[in-house]
Amino acid sequence: CGIVGCTTTERADRYLLPALQALEYRGYDSVGVAIATTDGTVTTVRSINRIGDLTAQLEARTGARLSGTGIGHTRWATHGDVTEANAHPHQDCDGLVSVVHNGIIENADVLRAELIAEGHRFSSGVDSEVICHLIEQSLVGASDSGLQGAIESCVRRLEGSWAILVMETSTGRLFATTHRAPLLVASSDNGHFVASDVTAIAPWITAFRVMSDGDLVELGSPLRWIAGGVEVAPPEALGLSWSSSFLSLAADDPDFMGREIAEQPETVERILSELAPRVSTGDLWRELGLPHFRRVAVLGCGTSLNAGRIIAHAFGAFGAIVNTAVTASEAGAVVLDAETLVIAASQSGETADVLRALDELQTGRGRVLALTNSMHSTLARRADGVLNCSAGPEIGVAATKTFVAQVVTGVCLALSAMVARGTILRAQADAIVDDLRRTPDRLENAIAVSRQWVPDIVESVRDAQGFLFLGRGAGVVYAAEGALKLKELTYRWAEHYPAGELKHGPLALVEEGTPVVVIESADGRLSANVAEVRSRGGRVISIGGPGSSIPVVDGHPEAFARSGRVSQGRGGNTFAACGPLESVVPMQILARELAIALGRDVDKPRNLAKSVTVE
Ligand code: G6P
Repeated sequence: CGIVGCTTTERADRYLLPALQALEYRGYDSVGVAIATTDGTVTTVRSINRIGDLTAQLEARTGARLSGTGIGHTRWATHGDVTEANAHPHQDCDGLVSVVHNGIIENADVLRAELIAEGHRFSSGVDSEVICHLIEQSLVGASDSGLQGAIESCVRRLEGSWAILVMETSTGRLFATTHRAPLLVASSDNGHFVASDVTAIAPWITAFRVMSDGDLVELGSPLRWIAGGVEVAPPEALGLSWSSSFLSLAADDPDFMGREIAEQPETVERILSELAPRVSTGDLWRELGLPHFRRVAVLGCGTSLNAGRIIAHAFGAFGAIVNTAVTASEAGAVVLDAETLVIAASQSGETADVLRALDELQTGRGRVLALTNSMHSTLARRADGVLNCSAGPEIGVAATKTFVAQVVTGVCLALSAMVARGTILRAQADAIVDDLRRTPDRLENAIAVSRQWVPDIVESVRDAQGFLFLGRGAGVVYAAEGALKLKELTYRWAEHYPAGELKHGPLALVEEGTPVVVIESADGRLSANVAEVRSRGGRVISIGGPGSSIPVVDGHPEAFARSGRVSQGRGGNTFAACGPLESVVPMQILARELAIALGRDVDKPRNLAKSVTVE
C-alpha cells in the first residue's frame, strides 16, 4: 500500500491525486482521499476503480470547499476484500478523525473485539479501522490529551507494522507516525508533504527527511518533529538524486515497462562507469567497511531472489566461497554464523519478507549488506552496509532494469571482494571488468534482435496456456526469471527447469505446440534435451547464437556461453561473471508483447504490487 498526506497552499486534491497515481505501483486494488474543508468538515471519496474515479467523485461534490490539507491511500488488499467499504481513508464512529494506514496491525482482532464490547461500530473488515476507534476513544475519554496524546496512546496498543496519517476533522491538524514502515516528510513553497515513497511527491520537492520508527510529525506551521514524546530537531534532509521526469511517460514511451526494458543498456553503462574503476582495486568492497567473511548468503524475493542467485554464484565462481541464495520468506530455517556475509537484495528495500528475514538472522550473526535501489529504504537503514544498484526509479510492477542493475552491481561486488582478499589477481579481475564493459552493447543488440523476432513468436504462442523455460548451468536462473516475467505479465502458467530435469517429470507436460523456451549454452547435453522436446511436438524457442529462434549473440553459436563471459583463471578455475545476462531481454519482451496481445495491463498486472510491505 502507499500513503500520502499534505498541508498545502492550494487544494489538496491537486497534489494527492497525482501522488496516488505515482504510488499505484505499491497496490491498486482501491484508492481514496479525505480532504479537510474550509468549514470544518471532511470530504472523503473512495473507489475500487482507478484514480480517475476519485476525480469524478470530487467534481460531483460541488458544494465542498476543499482546503490544502488531506490524506490519501492506494491499497493492496491483505485483510478484507476489495470493496469500497474496505478502502481507506477510514473514520471513527463520530467522524472525529480520518486515517490512512500502511502495514499490518497484528493484534487487530483482539482490539476490535474490545472496542466493539465498548460500543464502537465498525464499518469495514480491515485491520486499520481499529486505529480510528482507538484514537476516538482517547479523544473523548477522561484522559483527554488532545490529538497528539491520542495518537501516542493508540500506537502503544498496536502490534505489527504501521505508517499512519491522522487528520482531525474539526481542526484539519495532520499527524504522521511510523513503526517498521517507510514515511518521508518534505517541505517546499507549496507546503508540507508526507509519503511512503519520495516518488509520490518528487514533482514538488528537492529534498526530504526520513522518519524513524516511533517518530511523530505534525505537518503544521511550523512543522513539529516529535521523538519519545518530546519535540526534536528534524533529521538531516536528503537531496533527490534523480529527475522527476522518470516518473511520467514521454510521448514516445509505450508504457513504463517498455521504457524500462529499453533503458537497460544505459543503466548498466552508468553503473559500470561508477563502479568499474573500484572493482579490480578491491576498493568497492573495502569502502563498505564490512568485516572478513567465509561464506555468503544472498536473500531476496521474486526477481531480486533470481538476481541474488546469480550474485551468490559469482562469489563461488570468483573465489570458491561457499554460497547460498535464500528465499527470504523461508529464511527462518537457514542456519547462518558470524562468518557469513548476508546480502539482502531488494530493489525497493521495503519487502516485508526480507525485513523479517533480517530480524530472524541478524542477532549475533554475520553482517548484513543491503543491495537496493532505494538508499533511504527501511532495508538500507537496517543493514550494516549499503550498495546502491542505481537503476533509477522503476515504475513497472514487473522488475526489468532493476534486475539487470542488481546482477551487474552484485557481480562487481563479488569480484571486488575477491580481489581485496587476494583470491583473484588484479589482472584477472581487470579482464572480467573489460568483459563486463561490453554488457551495454550486448543488451542493446538483444533489444534490437528481440524487436525483430519476438512479434512472430507472440503470434504463434498466443493461445498457449502453459510454457516451459529451460537452461543449463548459469542459464537456469535466467530461465527462472523468464518464466516469472511470463507469469506476472500474461497470467499464463510458466515453469522453469534445469534442462536435465525435463526427462524426470516435466516432459509429461509437453504436447503438440507446447512452447518451450531454451536458453542455449555450450553444454552439449542441452541439444539432447531440446531433441526430447521436439520429438514430442514441443515448439522450441531458443535464445542464443546464430540459428536460434532469437539470435541475441553474434558469432559462433557456442559463443553465447563462452565468449567473454567465462575467463580461465588460476589453476584452471573458470570465472563466470553474469552468465548469459542478455538472454533476459527477449524473455522480458516476449512476456510484455504477449501480455499486450492478450489485453493485459503490463505496468500493473493483476493481484501484484511492486513493493509488498506485508508478509
Ligand atoms: C514483489 C514484486 C516483484 C519483486 C518482489 C521483490 O512481489 O511484484 O516484482 O521482484 O516483490 O521486490 P523487491 O523490492 O524486494 O526487490
